[in-house]
Amino acid sequence: MGFDCRGSFANLSRMKFPRFFSLLIVATVFAFSLRAADKKLTVGFSQIGAESAWRTAETESIRGEATKRGVNLRFSDAQQKQENQIKAIRAFLAQGVDAIILAPVVETGWEPVLKEVKRAKIPVILVDRGINVSDESLYTTLIASDFVAEGRLAGEWLAKKLNGKGNIVELQGTPGAAPAIDRKKGFEQAIAKNPGLKIIKSQTGEFTRSKGKEVMEAFLKAEGKNVNAVYAHNDDMALGAIQAIEEAGLKPGTDIIVVSIDGVKGAFEAMVAGKLNCTVECNPLLGPAAFDAIEAVKVGRTVPKKTIVKDEVFDQSVAMDVIGSRKY
Ligand code: AHR
Repeated sequence: MGFDCRGSFANLSRMKFPRFFSLLIVATVFAFSLRAADKKLTVGFSQIGAESAWRTAETESIRGEATKRGVNLRFSDAQQKQENQIKAIRAFLAQGVDAIILAPVVETGWEPVLKEVKRAKIPVILVDRGINVSDESLYTTLIASDFVAEGRLAGEWLAKKLNGKGNIVELQGTPGAAPAIDRKKGFEQAIAKNPGLKIIKSQTGEFTRSKGKEVMEAFLKAEGKNVNAVYAHNDDMALGAIQAIEEAGLKPGTDIIVVSIDGVKGAFEAMVAGKLNCTVECNPLLGPAAFDAIEAVKVGRTVPKKTIVKDEVFDQSVAMDVIGSRKY
């Protein structure tokens, strides 16, 4: 007896094989998506350095969140140098990371490397500082504070404290960095309404305590008792300036008013001690928002181009009450 294979194959291909193949395809797709969901994300984080307590808090927030979410984090400390950040980004590219978190030291000079990242279709999450690029599609999203608003808040607070009259010395952040540019701008806008307020000296203290102290010593040598107030672009420089004021035999917080930005624990301690008058908060705890953005992008959701973190002003009158609840 012969076997009519033509008929059997015809039957199978008409009925069983199509169903079998569809089931196989569905099962394969399902298995692949399960594996994709299970796959550990690898994220590169290019950090500026460790110049301030604020930055250390930011690093800890991103590292801690990565651990919490089971993300494999590749961390690189650029020691304040843009060239090191560019090298780190290229290394992340070579390693084939799933996303890059970048805290850019300065605003300009990112186009060439970010074009390479875009070609590799790797999302870039900018944290804390913005960049100047003609093509905004070179990064996915920016999560940061409004630095102009912070400078404005510091200026308004100081104008009120000095009753619109006095000589101010300014300690600027890293030259070319978004917070240095914007905090200067916002502060100047605020004090411009008071013709009696003058910035008599302004120089970079590079966002560090030691440089803040060194520059303040020079300011005091040049201007002596002419100085009524210090505006520092971050708390670390203010804490350095406080040391310089004390070493010059003056009382910080009383003889010279001190206002700064960040809201780190050390600033609250200095306010409780009566040496710092006011700090404008700049929240460094950006880890949760950064990884939320990465996870959203990875499942194809669109994220806002910019997320502004809300900040508050704290002065000596509230320092004692809130110091215990500060998280950084
Ligand atoms: O970009 C945020 C600024 O950078 C913080 O104010 C400062 O402390 C840091 O180094």
